[in-house]
Amino acid sequence: MISPSSRFILERLIDPGLADTLADDVRRGLFSVPKRLPPKHLYDAEGSRLFEEICTLEEYYPTRTETALLARIANELIDTVRPATLVEMGSGSATKTRLLLDAMARLERPATYVPVDIDESVLAAAAPGLLETYPLLSVRALLADFERPLHQLPRGRGVLVAFLGGTIGNLEESDARAFLARLARAVGPGASLLLGIDRVKQVQRLQAAYDDARGVTARFNLNLLRVLNRRLGADFLLEDFRHRALYDPAAQQVEMHLVAQRSLVVRLRELDRVARFQAGESVRTEISRKFTSDTARALIDGTGWHIERLFDAPGPDFSLIWASAGPGLEDRSRADLASPTSFP
Ligand code: SAH
Ligand code: AVI
Repeated sequence: MISPSSRFILERLIDPGLADTLADDVRRGLFSVPKRLPPKHLYDAEGSRLFEEICTLEEYYPTRTETALLARIANELIDTVRPATLVEMGSGSATKTRLLLDAMARLERPATYVPVDIDESVLAAAAPGLLETYPLLSVRALLADFERPLHQLPRGRGVLVAFLGGTIGNLEESDARAFLARLARAVGPGASLLLGIDRVKQVQRLQAAYDDARGVTARFNLNLLRVLNRRLGADFLLEDFRHRALYDPAAQQVEMHLVAQRSLVVRLRELDRVARFQAGESVRTEISRKFTSDTARALIDGTGWHIERLFDAPGPDFSLIWASAGPGLEDRSRADLASPTSFP
């Protein structure tokens, strides 16, 4: 058997210290009104650990609901698509992914898993267990920001891209559509997509999912201030801020905020600036959009993906959309986009 180490590579497409967008996002988002930061900065190693804890909470229904739905459809989907490569955007712990990998293992063929995540700790933690469970699997982990151009993805009919958890809902409509269009171009005609989307539902259930009784989501949100302290030399005191999560029915999204408890001046040494907060002023740290079947279709229409099927969990509390990249996509720089011939 080929040893696990020769079946794993990690490619760093961003340098967290230099090339990521934190400093720019803070310059843009903390010195304007209203204050806003993109959710991707919630995920350092501690943020990822806290997210995993959120997934186990009674109030946080998406993980167990999507898991049950995946378990129901995985074999049928894999038997139809017959992918040789599974790409996963925002792969995290890759726990649910195992349901897809189990179904792929039934094909008894060598396969490649390409997890894409902005947090290196999750990529490093997930790989050994996967290599042990699946002897025919190679893992090519990409440390990357999926909101940036994705030039290194494998292409074509044998590729299935999973984007689970409802993470697409953490992007604004126009950003999500631009992401889907870039993805369709990067993986090319014939590739497939499995997209998890959270559904509009009762306000109380939505708010409880983002404001749990044990305060895990509050710690996840407040951890962003630790990231700013460490990465930008800021002097935020966590006790100066409170977690707030509210569902906006008109926008059909949950919003997470950090609310200043008094008027404050915070220094950001690396940026050589101070940020001012009035008492009660908030920073929006995440949106989590919820969809109906119509708004989900509208999200995907015209992005280069053709919807094959919509699978609903009871309720429907959560849905999985299976789509394929249509013909007629721009194929601008095939050589540039192809995966390295040296792999696996
Ligand atoms: N797919 C898992 C994890 C979801 S949490 C699940 O369904 O449970 C969201 C994941 O996306 C995190 O691991 C986070 O690090 C990653 N992520 C968030 N924004 C990202 C970005 N812009 N680029 C790459 N990964 C990102
Ligand atoms: C990763 N993402 C889909 C989660 C969500 O539900 O929007 C992140 C999260 N934020 C608070 N709780 C969970």
